[in-house]
Amino acid sequence: MSGPEEPRVAGPDVDGLELDPETMRELGYRVVDLLVERLERLDDSRVWRGASRAEMESRLREPPPEEPTDFEELIGRLEKDVLPFTGQHDHPRFFGYIPSSPTWPGVLGDFLASGVNIFAGTWLQSAGASTVELVVIDWFRQWLGYGGRASGILLPGGSLANLTALACAKEAKAGGRAATAVVYVTPQSHSSLTRALHVLGFEADQVRSVPVDDRLRMRADALAAAMDADVLAGRRPLFVVANAGATNTGAIDPLGEIAAVCAEQDAWFHVDAAYGGFAILTERGRAWLDGIDEADSVTLDPHKWLYQPYECGCLVVRNGPLLSQAFHILPDYLQDTAVGGVEVNFADRGLQLTRSARALKVWLSLHHFGVRAFRAAIDRALDLALLAEERVRASEELELLSPASLGIVCFRRRPRGGAAGERELEALNSDLARRLAESGEGLVSTTRVDRRFALRMCVLGHRSRAEDIERVLAWLESAPVAR
Ligand SMILES: Cc1ncc(COP(=O)(O)O)c(C=O)c1O
Repeated sequence: MSGPEEPRVAGPDVDGLELDPETMRELGYRVVDLLVERLERLDDSRVWRGASRAEMESRLREPPPEEPTDFEELIGRLEKDVLPFTGQHDHPRFFGYIPSSPTWPGVLGDFLASGVNIFAGTWLQSAGASTVELVVIDWFRQWLGYGGRASGILLPGGSLANLTALACAKEAKAGGRAATAVVYVTPQSHSSLTRALHVLGFEADQVRSVPVDDRLRMRADALAAAMDADVLAGRRPLFVVANAGATNTGAIDPLGEIAAVCAEQDAWFHVDAAYGGFAILTERGRAWLDGIDEADSVTLDPHKWLYQPYECGCLVVRNGPLLSQAFHILPDYLQDTAVGGVEVNFADRGLQLTRSARALKVWLSLHHFGVRAFRAAIDRALDLALLAEERVRASEELELLSPASLGIVCFRRRPRGGAAGERELEALNSDLARRLAESGEGLVSTTRVDRRFALRMCVLGHRSRAEDIERVLAWLESAPVAR
């Protein structure tokens, strides 16, 4: 009869998951070299490269690797089969969707947070990183013009920030019961709001799409009228979302006017400034975003116009303690982490328990360059968008559909003596956007402005220069099209 099995005590490297310090350095330097070389070549590289699912599957589909593979070989495969197939959002001629061009210290901040593997959910596990997060959010608070009671949380992105804001408002204003509550958006609101409303259980008849003016900005008078009608019908105006700016055209809703309407009805006023909010660092941006300090909450995305690597979103709430009142839960298995006084468990301010230390990258990059450099980069992007608008206005082949607003300009090709009908123009412009992307020369995305099919140029990147705007617009203006 055999006795109880002897426990196998692992030696230092019995599982083979450790590397010696020299190898770790070598592999790390290899990755740093790859990244720096990529940046050195960025301007000369294709802006975008796509591929079909079939092609990607043929490159990458394989069974789980039971045996080890040499790191260099793996990097080679990533360089060949994975990394080229991407939109380079930090390319100087990437003007589609919302560009994102992180700074190198920001990238290293992410690396540090991963390498130390900081658990930023509880104070007990991350007093240091949690304090950095409090500090960084306090900088944002000051930029927004909020008082000292405001606070917030760093999140994966703007979608999660919008959802967190709605959940917080539902709790704060309606004790979590939203049966009679109504939410007000505009046709320009970001799709993440639709998703948030859906997952938080709002029915279609609890959502009002408030009419916009000729610049696609929410009409405060129409908001007031909609709210009055809802109150008369026994409904409770709960949550209003203003854009600053809207993803489509950069439209900025009249924040001060909307704040006054919300105050009248005791509704929560949320500003979705995911992409546009950091324009507040500039003098003109501050003027455009006037009234943002009257919002109950603001979504900001540092991974957009504050030049941070993905992922980094943020929600700032004017009455900060409402966040933890909405989300705080303390299960037995986390009782050791309870905080009583001024310390903060960031897990209590949102949906994530395990969360990475996003604040490190923001802190590191803002300190490394100083806020002045970020302000200058944002200001330059604003200038470039104005330049793009002027260039479109001056062109006999291009037609402006919406002027520059917070970095976004919409326009279309309208060939002289050529296609004139909306359908023809849509086909022509859709084809142009596709051909530009396939050329690798530049990238714009498309949208609709007043139902008209539009080319949409979003200029935020800190690497973009006047010649990049010119190169892309000249391409769109002169590419052969049917006349
Ligand atoms: C105004 C606005 N809100 C929300 C979002 C969603 O942000 P994210 O993609 O970071 O989730 C975006 C993204 O472009 C946006 O422009």
